[in-house]
This record gives sequence, C-alpha cells and structure tokens, in this order.
Amino acid sequence: MHHITLSSQTDFDGWRKAARALALNDVKPSDVSWRVADDAPELFEPTAAPLEPPQGTFNVPARFVELAEITILHRNPERFALLYRLLWRLRMHHDLLEPATDPDVAEITAMAKAVRSDEHKMHVLVRFREIGREQKSHFVAWFEPEHHIVELAAPFFARRFADMPWSILTPDLCAHWDGHVISFTPGVSRSEAPSTDRLEETWRRYYASIFNPARLKVQTMQKEMSRNYRRNLPEASLIKPLASDDKASDMPRKHADDIETLREEAAECRACHLYKNATQTVFGEGRQTARIMLVGEQPGDKEDLAGKPFVGPAGQMLDRALEEAGIDRRTVYVTNAVKHFKFVPRGKIRLHQKPNTPEIKACRRWYERELAAIKPDLVVAMGATAAQSVFGKITPINKNRGRAIDLDDGTRALVTVHPSYLLRLPDADAKAREYRRFVQDLKIAADVLRKSAHAA
Ligand code: URA
Repeated sequence: MHHITLSSQTDFDGWRKAARALALNDVKPSDVSWRVADDAPELFEPTAAPLEPPQGTFNVPARFVELAEITILHRNPERFALLYRLLWRLRMHHDLLEPATDPDVAEITAMAKAVRSDEHKMHVLVRFREIGREQKSHFVAWFEPEHHIVELAAPFFARRFADMPWSILTPDLCAHWDGHVISFTPGVSRSEAPSTDRLEETWRRYYASIFNPARLKVQTMQKEMSRNYRRNLPEASLIKPLASDDKASDMPRKHADDIETLREEAAECRACHLYKNATQTVFGEGRQTARIMLVGEQPGDKEDLAGKPFVGPAGQMLDRALEEAGIDRRTVYVTNAVKHFKFVPRGKIRLHQKPNTPEIKACRRWYERELAAIKPDLVVAMGATAAQSVFGKITPINKNRGRAIDLDDGTRALVTVHPSYLLRLPDADAKAREYRRFVQDLKIAADVLRKSAHAA
C-alpha cells in the first residue's frame, strides 16, 4: 500500500505530483491510500516500496484538470482516491469524460457542481459586520462553507469590496483583505466573530421594507440553504414572521425606511470613491411629510463641513427664490443627487468638480430610497446632475423646463436650473433675467402644491 499525505485539504499541486508519480509507476488505485497532514495518522501502516522518480509523461484532457481543481475542494474524504481512479482510467480511455453515464464521471461532475454552488452561496450570503469606526473600521463576517472554498471565493470579495479591509472567518480557514493582498490564517470558532453591529438593525429594517412574500419560495430556500447558511444571516429570524405577516413586536416596520434610518445608513456609504476625500455624507433634510422634494447636484465646500445641504451661497440664493415663489423652505425636503463633495484641492481652497455618470448612478440608490420615504407630489430637479438622477438619464434642462412631467415610476418632476448657475453668470442683466425664470419655475412647484392641498 502507498500512503500519500497531502499538505492541506486543498493541496491540488501535491495531489497532482503524487498522482503523476503513482501512475507512471503503474500503482493501481486500489493500492493507494490518501490523507491530509492534519488528519489523525493511522496506527499500523503497511508500507510499500518507495516510488521510482517518475520517468516519461502522459496527457489527460484539460477538462479533467479543470474538474479536478474544483473537486479537490469538496469535503468528501474519498475525493483524492476518486480523482486518482479517474486519472488511471483516463490513460486507457481518453474520452471517458464524454458520456457522463460512467458512475465515476457522474460523481466527479456532481461534486464539482456542489463546490461551485457553495462558492456562489458564499458570494451572496456573507454578511459583514463592522468593528471599530471611521478610519479604523474593519469588516468581519462569519461563514460556514460546506466545502473547502474559502481560497476559491476570496478574490470575489477583494474585487467587490476593494476599498474596505475585511476578514471572512470560517471554521476551516480565514481570509483577510487589507486593501492590497489577500492572506489566509487557520480557521476559528464562531465565538470569535462579531454577532451584531450598529448597522444590523438598519439592514434588518431595510430587508423588512423590501421583503416580498410572493417571491419567497420556502421549499427552495430550505433545499438550497442549509441551516448553517441560514443561521448566519441577520435577516433570517425575520423571514418567518414576515412570511406569515405576523406583527411580532420586535419586527421592524414593513413600510419604506424613515429618513433618519437612511441618513445613518448613508453615513457609511462607500458605493463610489467620493467618500474618501469628503468630510462626511451630506444627506437630505426636511420633513418626512414634505410635498415637494428639491434635488441639487452635490454638497459644496460649506455643506461638506456643515453636513447639511444648501447652506452655502447657492443655498442662500435658493432660499431667496423659494421665498419669492411663496414656498416656505421649512416645508420642503432638500437633497442632492450625489451625497459626497467632489473636489480638487487648490492651495487652501477645494475646487468643486462635477460628478460623473458612475458617481451619479452609485448614489441614485439613496435618491430612490428618499423618494420612497417622502413620496412627494413633486420633485424639482435643479441642474443637469439632478435631472440625470431624477429622470434616470441625461435630460436637457431648457427643452424640459417650465412644466411638471410624469415619470414612469409615478413621480411628477419639474426641471429647472441650479442656483449656482445664477451665481456664476457674469452679466448683471442675464443674472436678473435668469433669476426671474428660476422663481417662475418654483412658482409652478408652488402651484402643484396648492392644487394637491385642495385635492386632499
Ligand atoms: N450645490 C448643491 O447642488 N447642493 C448643495 O447642497 C450645495 C450646493
């Protein structure tokens, strides 16, 4: 008997080298036993003559190598032997893999599928919890994979969460990302992973607000998601009460988020790179019952420092125009399409930079959730960036201003210029003329407001 000891559960190179030497020495699969270094050694091991250094070579189909690389990650301890048996047989029957009716081929195919499925589940079911705050924060997740997939799945998280340092702890192996490289350490027990964080309740509320019982397939969920997967999901305990519409007292509200919850969540937003240089997220402000929602471009220097929208020079221009149009700013909700200040430093000042389309798109999730929370009668998009976010596409101002437009999502929108545009106009006459047009547009908004108040 030949006893082969691999260095780890995922030691594909070790398996490949050993399998090649065994095959070239004509060692039958039944004469080989496989195990992994950290497994308990067998007590009395009958030994075989040492293998000759491998002479010659042989080829196997590339598909076998692909399958073997994945199958070796399966938790079945028989996988090494199965793979060697297939390799042995492939030397005689090169097209063995073609009809998948052969029991060994069917087994390896099913094992590879199970590993891929486990990898996919890890990608979608890992939930990070934050440890520490701000610059020192680190995101930690606990996951219990069915197979040895941590090394396989880790690069996905490095790409997806490139900007945040994270660790995924599992009982087999832990993966860590420091923003540059992935490293691995031995597995740990569940008690080492954080079980909750300050964002957890927000996530549970959000989950409850988007939960759709019509889309819940209980049997599929139970079949596809073992108890190990399910119990690590923060939302897991909500599914049953939500599905049965049970109004348990600790259940989060089922309607759209409230603005304060959104504000807290957005404070942690890293959906684009703008958070890195900005002081803070500047979220929308105003009453949740507001009938008008004003959308600007992005916070400026003053807003970035104050954490409030439209408090600088553009805000003063807006306040004046709102007053002339007969709208009390305290009754409207004011926000921006992009919620972090984008700028380039020039000496002591920070020069405003227009946000680009990926930045607008990354931030649109917040606009959508603000819209769902406020449900205004009218959204006023001020300037091109706001119009792009509100309409979901580039929307020229002059062609569309002056009338309320019905959007596909049921929102009514009015397009106008941005107050900063008025500030930048060098010519006094043009400035006065454009200001009057701006007030005129806001009067249309005031009119919509009056009509909806009458209709109510
Ligand atoms: N410009 C904007 O678009 N928003 C602000 O909050 C300030 C200036």
